Amino acid sequence: MEHNPYLPQLARIISIKEEVGGARPIKTFHLELLNGHRFDFRCGQCAMISVFGKGESMISISSSPLIKEYLQFSILKMGRVTTALHEMEEGSIVGLRGPYGNGFPLEEWKGKNLIFIGGGIGLAPIWSVLQTALRQRDDFGQLTLFYGARTSQDLVFKDELKKLKETIPVYLSIDVKEPGWNEYVGFVPQNVLDKKPSPEKAIAITCGPPIMIKFVIKGLQELGFQDDQIFTTVENKMKCGIGKCGRCNIGHHYVCKDGPVYSWARLKTLPQEY
Ligand SMILES: Cc1cc2nc3c(=O)[nH]c(=O)nc-3n(C[C@H](O)[C@H](O)[C@H](O)COP(=O)(O)OP(=O)(O)OC[C@H]3O[C@@H](n4cnc5c(N)ncnc54)[C@H](O)[C@@H]3O)c2cc1C
Ligand code: FES
Repeated sequence: MEHNPYLPQLARIISIKEEVGGARPIKTFHLELLNGHRFDFRCGQCAMISVFGKGESMISISSSPLIKEYLQFSILKMGRVTTALHEMEEGSIVGLRGPYGNGFPLEEWKGKNLIFIGGGIGLAPIWSVLQTALRQRDDFGQLTLFYGARTSQDLVFKDELKKLKETIPVYLSIDVKEPGWNEYVGFVPQNVLDKKPSPEKAIAITCGPPIMIKFVIKGLQELGFQDDQIFTTVENKMKCGIGKCGRCNIGHHYVCKDGPVYSWARLKTLPQEY
């Protein structure tokens, strides 16, 4: 019988961590595939996670492909599927199909300084690249992270960020001043302009709300970054994930196949439908 690309594999939730509480909660899930299935992927690729009886959602894989024990997904509670996921418990079974999308061209970045710039849940796809570069430390130059959220409570991976600060420069920011916050107050693009990372031998990777990405790119250009030194991801709404339904298109391009990762040099030539 012909392989049905819509059929998910079964996966077990092996751990759930609450990253952010409140009105826009985020949880991080570790999944393991059942029945001996494998799932090889590249940094920046995504997977469709299904909750049976509820539907499917496209989510970035936030762990490094070098980790074989689990797949990590950090998920913001939004609507039907993500709410159902947030209500699940460790040991529950979900569906998983993928990996989808092009991923970041890490091989081409060897020897370069990598500057990661994330906002809110947008740290998830970036995290996979950062964790991979940390595990292959000799292959890359300096690693730097800029990361911001609305409040300190809205930052994801808080424990991991604390540890990361011992290894690489990490510039955190929140939008509005809070008691006890000793780091930058203001938007992520301003923090980047303030610290002035050098464009020399550098690649900047940014992911977050579209308005943040827009001003990060503008700021990077002011600092002298060329369009082919800036990479971002596009999160157009998706249904099939495999270039069949036409839901995710930018002009004639399907983001689920041609993206979600684009250099700014490429993205700026496409219609602004993202
Ligand atoms: C390439 C890609 C990577 C993503 N990575 C992450 C991630 O790492 N973490 C995370 O929390 N979210 C991520 N999202 C967004 C996530 O897919 C949506 O928040 C989720 O599908 C909402 O589904 P829902 O049923 O809970 O909400 P509903 O609002 O009920 O959504 C109904 C349907 O609309 C579509 N949809 C709604 N919002 C979005 C959206 N923003 N993007 C795409 N489709 C949407 C989905 O097909 C969904 O099934 C990503 C989206 C894309 C396209
Ligand atoms: S999600 Fe169906 S074509 Fe891209």
